[in-house]
Amino acid sequence: MLADKRILLIIGGGIAAFKALDLIRRLRETGATVTPVLTRSGAQFVTPLSVSALAGEKLYQDLFDLTAEAEMGHIELSRSADLIVVAPATADLMAKMAGGLANDLASTLLLATDKRVLVAPSMNVRMWEHPATQRNLAQLISDGVLVVGPNEGDMACGEYGYGRLAEPLEIVGAIDAALSDGPLKGKHILVTSGPTHEPIDPVRYIANRSSGAQGTAIAKALAALGADVTFVTGPADVPPPSGVRVVSVQTAAQMLAAVQAAPVADAAVFAAAVADWRVANAGPSKIKKDGNGLPTLEFAENPDILATVSQMTQGRPSLVVGFAAETDDVIAHATAKRLRKGCDWIVANDVSPETGIMGGAENVVTLISDAGAESWPRMGKQEVATRLARKIADAIG
Ligand code: CTP
Repeated sequence: MLADKRILLIIGGGIAAFKALDLIRRLRETGATVTPVLTRSGAQFVTPLSVSALAGEKLYQDLFDLTAEAEMGHIELSRSADLIVVAPATADLMAKMAGGLANDLASTLLLATDKRVLVAPSMNVRMWEHPATQRNLAQLISDGVLVVGPNEGDMACGEYGYGRLAEPLEIVGAIDAALSDGPLKGKHILVTSGPTHEPIDPVRYIANRSSGAQGTAIAKALAALGADVTFVTGPADVPPPSGVRVVSVQTAAQMLAAVQAAPVADAAVFAAAVADWRVANAGPSKIKKDGNGLPTLEFAENPDILATVSQMTQGRPSLVVGFAAETDDVIAHATAKRLRKGCDWIVANDVSPETGIMGGAENVVTLISDAGAESWPRMGKQEVATRLARKIADAIG
């Protein structure tokens, strides 16, 4: 897919630098040529020999390398590629880029290039969340730099959170999207995500444990393949991805209204954990302990958004994907759910507490379609999203 494309890969100094070796391999598998640049600190984590052996190309390391300068000057090097990729992009490299520094080979190439740049950040979660890094990130995005990741998960330093380098296949996907229009260019895809909050009174609500992580990852993966994404989200723990149209809602009824108001979609993915019931007697004022006994909540069933869209006679997306959150007999229940709701695919997952899936970083899913059930191994939610997005692209792209 990247045949004849030239990638200049800058490997920064971080524990995730080892993944750059796999990235080189994956890129070469797609037919790309990878010219590697290893920073001084990157060389503390991976050896120059392994980098150049895997790339099968000359490795560049120093700004003042006279041999290299005689063969190819740094200005020419910065412009000879179709895309510059920085993976891992450390906090330091991002700061240099945002500030326009050029005090080593990597930063000089990044300042001198006339090509697009894609960064894959990787760092400790506190460093990632630091206002300085977030400022630099905002600057880079407004300068037109493309960003993939970081992902959420366990870190080599023992902490947990955002800061893990995106997986090599995800970076390949982002490179492909950056260099092409993407297989989903021109396609509109609707994604629902997150929990819904159903009010009991103005200060209390009923909710569920969905973090919105899987739906967010799917929207991001679809956008990376060039789709125009409408992202209808309940109150999630994770921020919405960039590059998508975000519609924020609270309740199931609002989610249905937002879905119905969205432009006609080519595909729709219903990843939201919609509350099945709302409180029918939710009042406009706070329920008080007034000595007249315990309040009684009456429930009403919420509209089923997935079933409503699946059964539309006009303007139905050609591919409707639902999720099935189950705690037992996962495949049997999900298979029945697909038929009952009328969607094309169901992504089934086991959300029993012991799996740690709801609110966690990983997922184990089975994709159920007309063709039967396809079980995927346990993997990060972003990787599930990348795979699903690819499948959607194959189906409608
Ligand atoms: N869904 C929806 N609207 C609802 C309930 C669910 O759109 N009111 C969608 C979810 O986004 C998901 C799928 O339906 O794609 C299945 O959700 P799930 O909670 O697994 O199933 P339920 O329909 O709630 O069925 P049950 O509670 O019986 O398992």
